[in-house]
Amino acid sequence: MKLKSQLNNVIQDAFNKAGIEHAPMSVSEASKPEFGDYQFNGAMALSKKLGKNPREIAQSIIDHLDLSGVLTKAEIAGPGFINLWINPLWLATQAQEALADERLSISRRENPIKVVVDYSGPNMAKQMHVGHLRSTIIGDTLANLLTFLGDDVIRQNHIGDWGTQFGMLIAYLEMKGLEMKGEDGSGSLKDLEQFYKDAKGEFDANPAFANKAREYVVKIQSGDAHCLQLWQKFIDISLGHCEEVYEKLNVNLTRDDVRAESFYNDDLANVITDLQKSDKLQESNGAQCVFLEGDEVPVIVQKGDGGYLYATTDLAALRYRAKELGAKRISYVVDARQAGHFKQVFRVAKEAGFVPEYVKLEHIAFGTMMDKGGKPFKTRDGGTVKLIDLLDEAVVKARETINNKEDYTPEQIDELAKIIGIGAVKYADLAINRESNYIFNWDKMLSFEGNTSLYMQYAYARIQSIFRKFDGQISGDIIIGDELEHRLATMLLRFEDVLNRAAEDASPNQITTYLYDVVTLFMRFYEQNPMLKEGVDESTKMSRLQLADLTAKTIKQGLDSLGIRVVDRL
Ligand code: ARG
Repeated sequence: MKLKSQLNNVIQDAFNKAGIEHAPMSVSEASKPEFGDYQFNGAMALSKKLGKNPREIAQSIIDHLDLSGVLTKAEIAGPGFINLWINPLWLATQAQEALADERLSISRRENPIKVVVDYSGPNMAKQMHVGHLRSTIIGDTLANLLTFLGDDVIRQNHIGDWGTQFGMLIAYLEMKGLEMKGEDGSGSLKDLEQFYKDAKGEFDANPAFANKAREYVVKIQSGDAHCLQLWQKFIDISLGHCEEVYEKLNVNLTRDDVRAESFYNDDLANVITDLQKSDKLQESNGAQCVFLEGDEVPVIVQKGDGGYLYATTDLAALRYRAKELGAKRISYVVDARQAGHFKQVFRVAKEAGFVPEYVKLEHIAFGTMMDKGGKPFKTRDGGTVKLIDLLDEAVVKARETINNKEDYTPEQIDELAKIIGIGAVKYADLAINRESNYIFNWDKMLSFEGNTSLYMQYAYARIQSIFRKFDGQISGDIIIGDELEHRLATMLLRFEDVLNRAAEDASPNQITTYLYDVVTLFMRFYEQNPMLKEGVDESTKMSRLQLADLTAKTIKQGLDSLGIRVVDRL
């Protein structure tokens, strides 16, 4: 349910009855309970235009306000704010409906659009490292969220599978005879980082090998069957490593979502000729460039030796996504350090007509993960931290926090450790304003208290345990009995507004902040409003149980969009 729109409609209705014309305005959540549930501050903005005192305007809105449905009370405060109280009966009915609906009354968009979400995009020459974590999980959250809200989402994994380094890698693969190993890529290629180092070592020490590597670069590019086969083998193995990470991360990326850089190879020459046709191209120092007005550095699309660049491929990909896939919104979840690149290619794509004007192009930028000392995250000896190692460590650490569970089988402990450990890493990341850098801190993320996944999972499991204890049939209605119940129900009904904003701004932390508010409020409600205690009358008990149930379902759905699982017992 779109709570805000419901309230806006009531206000609009009062405006109409009062005969006041105005641009669209919206209510906002009240900052304190004594200010009601929502506030409307529009009277101030209108005062100049109407030449009237804001309190006077506020009063005339209140005079025309319908207080028999959604709202029950409205009051002028301060210079002309209107404080609004939601009708508890209406609230109860809405909560009841949400509980009965498997989508929790969250509607699917009336006008869904095609959205391309470009995320993860690891480079095939190397192991995935912690820098890829953020793109992968923020992108996945956005894709999950938009899918849930009804958009037609196309996930695109723009993997880096092309470039001169692959000549060296496949020459080395051939030399070591590793292509003979099993499909799963077992053998010394388990560690791509090491493989790359070894290949580079050979390249630097052995001129014959270096020549072969260079020769292989040319051969892959000209479509030589033997080299392409080696290359394909290498990509398969490397992608297999990534898929292991996706699986551990509970991320929805499959091979079907891969549109690698190499996918666009055949179109790169067309990109150049089409830019030429639209009069965009200029030669500078032998290279083909696009100069954008106001920008000092041009976008280089073809080097003097004929080679294409990262930007050329992205231009081809932009055109493909707009024209072939029919996307109306294209979201790139990529490190903030690539902001300049995206700004430029977006402009070129629009100016050259590769992407129609109405298509929304956005760079969903994110900051860097730092260690406790505030430096970019590295291993003890200064190397990059492999993502898979970090995730394995998370599971080990999670197991330590739950080790005293005697009534669990070892398999259950394993499963629980995975859900908690991976959830903690993801949540800690998604809970940060994505554009900020953040400090990676195991203790904080694996705490039962504060804005952590464990706090949410714990609350969820707690509610499930109440139901195990209750072990009966729910009947009767939700009744809003006191202030805390009123606030909890209002909070729960805000869920759709929160999800929509988080999707619009591509900011998962709006969901985590909301979940934290929900659970904090629920914990207070739970302490003060007993459910199963002796002496609680039947209808109150039934109502509270249903509010608890709606809370649990909201937590579950919220975590689900973040790709984090819940457990029934903790
Ligand atoms: N492979 C790139 C990197 O690791 C990310 C790709 C992002 N997507 C894109 N269409 N450029 O930096």
